[in-house]
Amino acid sequence: MKDSWWEGAVIYQLIPRSFSDSNCDGIGDLEGLEQKLSYLSWLGIEAIWLTPIYPSPLKDVGYDITDFEGIHPELGDLDSFHKLIDSAHKKNIKVILDLVLNHTSYLHPWFQRARWAAKGSNERDFYVWTDDIETYKEAPVLFCNFENSNWEWDPVAEQYYFHRFLRHQPDLNYSNQFVQKEMLRVVDVWLERGVDGFRLDAVPFLFEAEGGRCEGLPETHEFLKKVRERVEIAGRDVLLLGEAIQPVIEASPYLVKDELHGAFNFELTAHLFGAIANGQANNLQVCIEKSQNLVPGSRWALPLRNHDELWLGDGHLVSNEVIEIIRTGLPQSNGHWLNWGINRRLAPLLNGDPRPNRLLHGLLYSLPGMPCIYYGDELGMGDWPGLRDRDPNRTPMAWTPAKNGGFSEAPDPLLVLPPITAPGYDYRVVNVEVQRQLPASLLNWHRRMLTCRRHLPALRHGEFELLKSSHPSVIAYIRYSSSMIVLVVANLSGAGASLKIDLSRWEGMRTREVMWGCDFPKATKEWFVHLPSYGFSWWLIGEVEGSNFAMRT
Ligand code: NOJ
Repeated sequence: MKDSWWEGAVIYQLIPRSFSDSNCDGIGDLEGLEQKLSYLSWLGIEAIWLTPIYPSPLKDVGYDITDFEGIHPELGDLDSFHKLIDSAHKKNIKVILDLVLNHTSYLHPWFQRARWAAKGSNERDFYVWTDDIETYKEAPVLFCNFENSNWEWDPVAEQYYFHRFLRHQPDLNYSNQFVQKEMLRVVDVWLERGVDGFRLDAVPFLFEAEGGRCEGLPETHEFLKKVRERVEIAGRDVLLLGEAIQPVIEASPYLVKDELHGAFNFELTAHLFGAIANGQANNLQVCIEKSQNLVPGSRWALPLRNHDELWLGDGHLVSNEVIEIIRTGLPQSNGHWLNWGINRRLAPLLNGDPRPNRLLHGLLYSLPGMPCIYYGDELGMGDWPGLRDRDPNRTPMAWTPAKNGGFSEAPDPLLVLPPITAPGYDYRVVNVEVQRQLPASLLNWHRRMLTCRRHLPALRHGEFELLKSSHPSVIAYIRYSSSMIVLVVANLSGAGASLKIDLSRWEGMRTREVMWGCDFPKATKEWFVHLPSYGFSWWLIGEVEGSNFAMRT
């Protein structure tokens, strides 16, 4: 069977309005993005995931939609969308669209119609209403910095409406068949327009029921199966990637044969940061191990950071102990707590240290799944603490040392958000143009790693096995296929580590370090390895003598 395009694909997440501005209005747009596709293809990514591009009053950076079929006029129109898809496809880049199933904007015509419609009518029933705010009281308030309750009083409807997110985002009522029908139609529309995948926002919350967190109910899975059917009918290889901020055990049920193809592994993300925070591999190992029980063909998407806060939760995603390890072990998180997570970009969270930054990406690029790069993290871009909500993490991409980092030529007050000029992260230093010229830059490192990954298909499709590590800070695993074995050993701590690894299964075979392209001693029962602080390596085991695989670009 032919592999799907998304198996092991490297996904690049970007916010179109913060990426590149083509018409000098201070707001990034689809045409600007199209002009940057050559950069993305040079970098070596395989798919772009666009945060919502639909018409929206932007109370939540576009996750509050007023028209599921349109394009926000600030970003372009359907023509610019089609041009973007065509150009991306010509460069072998797939396009994944964010699709928000759970809710609309309060300004969506459906909601306005619902508020004025008679109680009990089908129009009112498009959303979830109550007269008693004790209803679904066990559902946690997710945006707890902004909301005290999941219910908001509507004076026109004279009822409370349900919203798992902001009050500006009323939840659709999926028990209503018309809602289901409309949203499936939206899926069809975008399938017809040629998208290669959907990042399905907030999938656990589609249905509600008393007596629990209102997450991942059986009816929700039933509806997602209908979405899958639509995708199958389209007959193209289209990725359904779900956002379920739930522990592996609760997120896995989305990844069954007839439901979603992929889901983000947010538990793993949290443990990656936990491991860096205390320099210990144990929790991470346990999480990686349990993440492997997927039905064939399903994949985890592996993000480090994204456009939200680094979500750690209320003890449900990872234990409170792990949350405490992260909070205390990553001191740059101090004072940056928002809702249920840490509101910082990757580089500042790691105190600007490129070593753990490389290490974390090195793991992402070698673990089974789809690595996700958040725009700017390939440069070690900074953030702007103090901006509202999650905006600190959503500032314009830094392209050049020129005005506004080459993002836009508009005057400052028009800019969507201020470009970073914070010490250590100033766009005049941290930008694509400069880093492309510096051979040792983080950007060139990412490009080399991705080039390397392409030469090692076992990292993309291969099987996975954790090896026993005799050092508490070191994680070791192999990715293997019938033609290739790649050994990964990584030191999660800020102190160097020496250890012996049992490679007796491959006794006497050649070991060759991939990044340096040099031979190491042949595999033995007590194969000795030294890793500097946050050091890691990929070795090919048993590579045929005479072949000369080395990562040269
Ligand atoms: C998850 C998205 O990642 C986040 O940015 C958004 O605010 C909520 N869903 C609501 O749509």
